[in-house]
Amino acid sequence: MRLVLAGFGVVGQSFAQLVKEKTPDLAAKYGFVPRVVAIIDSSGAVMDEKGLDVARVVTKKRKTGKVGQTSGLGAREIIARTEADVLIETTPTDFKSGEPGLGHIKSAFISKKHVVTCNKGPLGIAFQALQELARHNSVQFRYSGAVGGGTPILDFGKTCSTGDDVTRVTGILNGTCNFILTKMERERVSFADALAEAQREGYAERDPTLDINGYDSAVKLVIMANHLGLSKATVREVNVRGIQDVSAEKAWAAAEKGEAIRLIAVADKSGLSVQPSTIARDDPLCVTGTYNAVKFHCKDSGDKVIVGRGAGGPETASSLLRDLIEIRGSMSEATEQ
Ligand code: HSE
Repeated sequence: MRLVLAGFGVVGQSFAQLVKEKTPDLAAKYGFVPRVVAIIDSSGAVMDEKGLDVARVVTKKRKTGKVGQTSGLGAREIIARTEADVLIETTPTDFKSGEPGLGHIKSAFISKKHVVTCNKGPLGIAFQALQELARHNSVQFRYSGAVGGGTPILDFGKTCSTGDDVTRVTGILNGTCNFILTKMERERVSFADALAEAQREGYAERDPTLDINGYDSAVKLVIMANHLGLSKATVREVNVRGIQDVSAEKAWAAAEKGEAIRLIAVADKSGLSVQPSTIARDDPLCVTGTYNAVKFHCKDSGDKVIVGRGAGGPETASSLLRDLIEIRGSMSEATEQ
């Protein structure tokens, strides 16, 4: 299975290393050998149709900040022209334009490649259009790592909605904000110090105001609501307030009363919102650190909660790999039919 990787930051590198490490397992358990034939980053690209030595590319990227030379071709052209089966798209999220990820994904679909992505921008802006384009080109589009890092929140929600109605979704969707709020209430560190640590650990977006101001949670909420058929809203329609005004003092004061301040996202038929809210410490949504938690309110079967780590390179890379295995499974089914 030939892969093109667009984006080679924390998640892209983690994915490349995970695939290399798991190649014997993937061959034995799922009957396929992934081969990375192109890696593209913002400075250029490196390609080899026989398969790249990803460890060497990681070393080069860490030493020089680049994967290769600037080629004459742009990323979209490389994606379109490279003989490959799947695009793994992990470029930095842009919540306003969705680019460059949006163009990369479209280019892959048009050239009949499946896409696996954890890039939230394109999904928050053009979820319905991208689904349509994938269907039109008879390719698969998977994005489980876009919500919940390595935790299969979207798949769990889909299972909850099978034969039942998910009427409302309530959740903590941003690991960075949750990490900051927890650090402030537990260790009494300042907002700025907690944020700096989240950045060092690679949890925060390249522009961390997207986490803090609630946009990252809003985009994930849009993806989840669209995925479950609860709404066709785009990110522009979410009522958003972030944690920028939550001080360490407010966080301790809540903790002293047996409560906690958390950035809570809610979607139901009446609309989508993200705002800091005070919740009881024994509420199952009251998770700590980079954990995410989502409650699916189901009409017949009641409430269900999923909890797991919501950010981090290796965690998100594991979702990308899960999606890739799913694609491989349905490619084999299609061949057998
Ligand atoms: N910045 C995001 C977060 C990364 O903190 O949740 C995972 O989407």
